[in-house]
Amino acid sequence: MAMNVFDAVRARRSVKSFTDRPLPEGAVESLLELVVLAPNHRMTEPWRFIVLGPEARRTYGGLKGESRARRVDDPEAAQAVLRKTVEKMSALPSMVAFVQVLDDDPEIREEDFATIYMGMQNFLLGAVAMGLGTHVKTGAILDEPATREALEVEEGERILALVQLGEPAEVPNEKPRTTATERTRKLL
Ligand SMILES: Cc1cc2nc3c(=O)[nH]c(=O)nc-3n(C[C@H](O)[C@H](O)[C@H](O)COP(=O)(O)O)c2cc1C
Repeated sequence: MAMNVFDAVRARRSVKSFTDRPLPEGAVESLLELVVLAPNHRMTEPWRFIVLGPEARRTYGGLKGESRARRVDDPEAAQAVLRKTVEKMSALPSMVAFVQVLDDDPEIREEDFATIYMGMQNFLLGAVAMGLGTHVKTGAILDEPATREALEVEEGERILALVQLGEPAEVPNEKPRTTATERTRKLL
């Protein structure tokens, strides 16, 4: 568990495939307790977490699969896409929806969005320290009524991301990135 932050940041990847090994007992709960330690202006605590069990992941997999299948012309290939997506989602060791309670004030809404993503990074780095992998997933499907209903998202709430979590089957290579130095302007 003892891993320094620099190492965790450098080791983090968006993991694309997970083993079917169950998570250590209490892993999700421990990681979520890191989320709520994020900097939070006005201490609004705007996060809600929805932990999807196998049934919920299967239902979501159906919705995601249908959305993917709609983009495939051949009906048989479309069915295969649907089936594969359902299987993949139900086989995930865990998936957590990060949900924002939407404040009426746009300024607070923006800050709240930021704080949840800061918390999400705590979750991602904590997972690395536990030898686990994560993948943040977003997209229009998260705002669709069918998704909101399937995940029992309440009025005035918005799903910001679905985070997949598990033991990595494979750890992707680091993506090439421009150094910060090249993106930095220094003022006198
Ligand atoms: C806000 C946000 C949304 C993302 N949404 C998706 C997504 O919908 N699908 C996906 O495959 N990856 C998604 N990612 C992961 C990025 O594609 C990934 O971080 C990027 O390719 C860099 O790879 P790395 O995370 O392994 O360094 C998202 C990342 C962020 C920060």
